[in-house]
Amino acid sequence: MLVALVICARHKIEPMTRFWTDTVNRLTPYVPGEQRAGGDITKLNTNENPYPPSPDVMEAIRRVNGDQLRRYPDPESVELRSALASYHGVGLDNVFVGNGSDEILALAFLAYFTDGRALQYPDITYSFYPVYCDLYGIEPKTIALEADYSLSLERFLPNEGSIIFPNPNAPTAVATSFEDVKSLLDRHTEQVMLVDEAYADFGATSVIPLVHEYPNLLVSQTFSKGRSLAGLRLGVAFGDAALIDGLQRVKNSFNSYPVDALAQAAGIASIADDAYYRTTTQTIIDTREWTVSELTNRGFEVLPSAANFVFAKAPAGAAGHLFTRLSEAGVLVRYWDKPALSQWLRISIGTPGDMQRLIACIDA
Ligand SMILES: Cc1ncc(COP(=O)(O)O)c(C=O)c1O
Repeated sequence: MLVALVICARHKIEPMTRFWTDTVNRLTPYVPGEQRAGGDITKLNTNENPYPPSPDVMEAIRRVNGDQLRRYPDPESVELRSALASYHGVGLDNVFVGNGSDEILALAFLAYFTDGRALQYPDITYSFYPVYCDLYGIEPKTIALEADYSLSLERFLPNEGSIIFPNPNAPTAVATSFEDVKSLLDRHTEQVMLVDEAYADFGATSVIPLVHEYPNLLVSQTFSKGRSLAGLRLGVAFGDAALIDGLQRVKNSFNSYPVDALAQAAGIASIADDAYYRTTTQTIIDTREWTVSELTNRGFEVLPSAANFVFAKAPAGAAGHLFTRLSEAGVLVRYWDKPALSQWLRISIGTPGDMQRLIACIDA
């Protein structure tokens, strides 16, 4: 081992990398927020829901029996997709489910964006998009946000490469209107437009009703945020039947069973217990508004949020310092030491008690 390390050091290559392909050698993988275990931690760094899934979901998971686990799950997740189709007023063939919406994005990038043209997305956005571009060799074309960090869809070049953006955007939390998305779809007709609605439960208007009108529109959503199931890994996409069929082809060339039996049972129960999620979502929105006003009173600039997190510019350039001190005090938030972001903190909305602790720590 020591000899190998010495040889590696002499030849200036990292241990192990000589067996990797060029693609893997040049990857810069996505770095998720810290999952610190144990201790007295207030975790506001990965936009998880502070409330548990509905009791009906827990019961549905408990009811899954040994036979269901012994066998492979339904590869097409028909019952779950039917529940989602009725809930959103679309057909079964307009619905695709996957192992978290990150997996759906990975499949969609391969299905629609590897056509040799550039992929357009905002210059400040979900940092998984450049990672997938890297992985698949897709050329990114970034679209600048406005001075107030809003996303003007006018800046996208219609039909000059596919388009992806989150609505609301991440990490800014700023939403784009239904009318603006529709208007871009009227102009952008020749390539796919993927609207990533991971946080749509907290204020933005979903464009799922438009999938029948625009055959190039794909909308992705997740059970991780509004439905408190980040640990289960369940995502969903809606689109024209032909678009969904493209995703199915890629899925079935990669992993036929991405949604396990537990996730299918829990997803169905979650859709059925909508009242529970409307209540927890409203509580999070109320807590968000309280947090925004407390941060604003302390000199933070907080962007208008339609998500379960806020993007807040710390007073006097103190974001990096605050991030470190909060982390030492057991309050985890997200910070990127990158040019356009280094003055900002992304803070997930927890329970009222979590947010009171955050504010008390900031004061301290
Ligand atoms: C904008 C955006 N899209 C997609 C995801 C992926 O969510 P999941 O894979 O948990 O469904 C996230 C997760 O934080 C996100 O912020």
